[in-house]
Amino acid sequence: MLTIQDSVAVITGGSGGIGKALAKYWLEQGGKVVIADIMADALETAESELKKISDDVISVTCNVTAEDDCAKLAKRAIDEFGQINLVAPFAGITGDGLFIKTDRETGKVSGKMSLEQFQKVIDINITGVFLTVRECAEQMINNDCRGLICLVSSTGSLGTAGQINYSSSKAAMSVMPKVMTAEFFRRGFADKIRCMAVAPGYVGTPMVKNMDEKIINNILQQVPISRLIEPEEVVSLVAELYRNEAMAGETVFIHGGLRLGSKG
Ligand SMILES: NC(=O)c1ccc[n+]([C@@H]2O[C@H](COP(=O)([O-])OP(=O)(O)OC[C@H]3O[C@@H](n4cnc5c(N)ncnc54)[C@H](O)[C@@H]3O)[C@@H](O)[C@H]2O)c1
Repeated sequence: MLTIQDSVAVITGGSGGIGKALAKYWLEQGGKVVIADIMADALETAESELKKISDDVISVTCNVTAEDDCAKLAKRAIDEFGQINLVAPFAGITGDGLFIKTDRETGKVSGKMSLEQFQKVIDINITGVFLTVRECAEQMINNDCRGLICLVSSTGSLGTAGQINYSSSKAAMSVMPKVMTAEFFRRGFADKIRCMAVAPGYVGTPMVKNMDEKIINNILQQVPISRLIEPEEVVSLVAELYRNEAMAGETVFIHGGLRLGSKG
């Protein structure tokens, strides 16, 4: 079992939501943290907040879709703390809409999701994760680090209407841990660097809280535990996956029972 004390977490999307909750927990457990985000102001606020827990936190402004930014982020973590033990590429966005819209009266197509709307989500949620993980894995291997790459998928990976871009990107997050684990196994270091994904249902972060209240209430009617998941509950799962070195190559759902059928 690994311990968090003195271990180093690199967290993208670290200025808010699940990323910031993870940073807070990691510091409380005696770990060290590099938070990265595209929102420089929010990142600065998060860093000062986290510094109240521990000085072992730095922030790096980073656009995860930029190759150079991701390389600098991974290098900075090594320069500052000497190792990387947890990679949590949690920067992500939604960009909801129907992929094809029809007019209710004529039945004819009245609109289409633009290429831009599709591609923006794919760029941040897949390419951004690929770049973050590739650069951090390079540093982990070259600096002989032990730990976990923990991606974030979603129940959306099973397919959600109005989210062809987001659902597709999150389905990719469920397959990446398998590819990485298989590649690391071939090269003989899968016992040192593992990869997993967590797949939350609806979590009470800005991503969900900014949705229409009516939509949230409708969603909650389909959640057996009758509430949103707390960011801290997702963080607790990430921490367990980090500690438990038998966990590799899989996606673990945390959704309060969402989509498990009718109330019967
Ligand atoms: N909230 C949920 O219900 C939920 C459910 C399942 C999965 N997830 C996933 O968890 C992750 C975190 O979500 P959250 O709810 O904390 O969302 P959030 O919106 O609170 O945080 C996402 C962060 O990513 C940052 N970001 C966006 N684009 C970026 C870029 N190009 N480069 C760097 N940073 C960028 C944002 O500034 C923001 O701080 C996302 O990948 C999301 O898809 C969330």
